[in-house]
Amino acid sequence: MLHMNITVRQEVKRDYAVVFEINKAAFEQNEEAELVDALRKSKAFIPELSLVAVAGCKAVGHILFTKAIIKNESGEEFESLALAPMAVHPDFQMAGIGSKMINYGLDKGRELGFKSVTVLGHDMYYPKFGFMPASNWNIRVPFDVPENIFMAIELTPGGLDGVSGIVHYADEFQSVC
Ligand SMILES: CC(C)(COP(=O)(O)OP(=O)(O)OC[C@H]1O[C@@H](n2cnc3c(N)ncnc32)[C@H](O)[C@@H]1OP(=O)(O)O)[C@@H](O)C(=O)NCCC(=O)NCCS
Repeated sequence: MLHMNITVRQEVKRDYAVVFEINKAAFEQNEEAELVDALRKSKAFIPELSLVAVAGCKAVGHILFTKAIIKNESGEEFESLALAPMAVHPDFQMAGIGSKMINYGLDKGRELGFKSVTVLGHDMYYPKFGFMPASNWNIRVPFDVPENIFMAIELTPGGLDGVSGIVHYADEFQSVC
């Protein structure tokens, strides 16, 4: 496994069933797999940012970035991306695949013109990609979470300058939050 050749590419229709199985296996439940199915049909879906990691010709990881809006107290809205969910099949974890998908996704998001990404997740994992506590920008989620697990990253220098407020996710997320 150490010498696996891993490539990351945009997910296509024939990956959907495998992506469902990857999420189900990684999260040990169906919720995230079903969330991905629902998000593909949502307005927040960006096909170029639903990515699979492929080992040989088999998808073994999946990551999704969807459109999110950060809305400040004056009602101003800023477009951002939400990273979620992300999964690597348990047989392939701890081999750098997750990292490869994140870096690829951040580059693609930048290329598509997005200025920032937020994520709710492990505070030992995401900072190594440049994520910082979203509280640095006074960006919050509309529910109670420990401050350290809600993070953001600028995709361009100053990408979050003047941005603050509450992140609004695609409605589909409410089914798992
Ligand atoms: C989180 C996940 C996608 C990481 O994928 P991966 O391919 O194993 O990650 P990588 O090999 O790139 O990175 C491994 C690194 O992450 C750390 N790591 C992996 N899973 C972690 C976890 N659950 N908590 C904290 N750190 C974790 C490892 O310690 C390792 O650190 P190192 O690079 O300093 O040695 C994978 O573990 C997974 O699918 N987990 C279950 C689903 C999940 O929790 N998804 C994230 C929330 S949406």
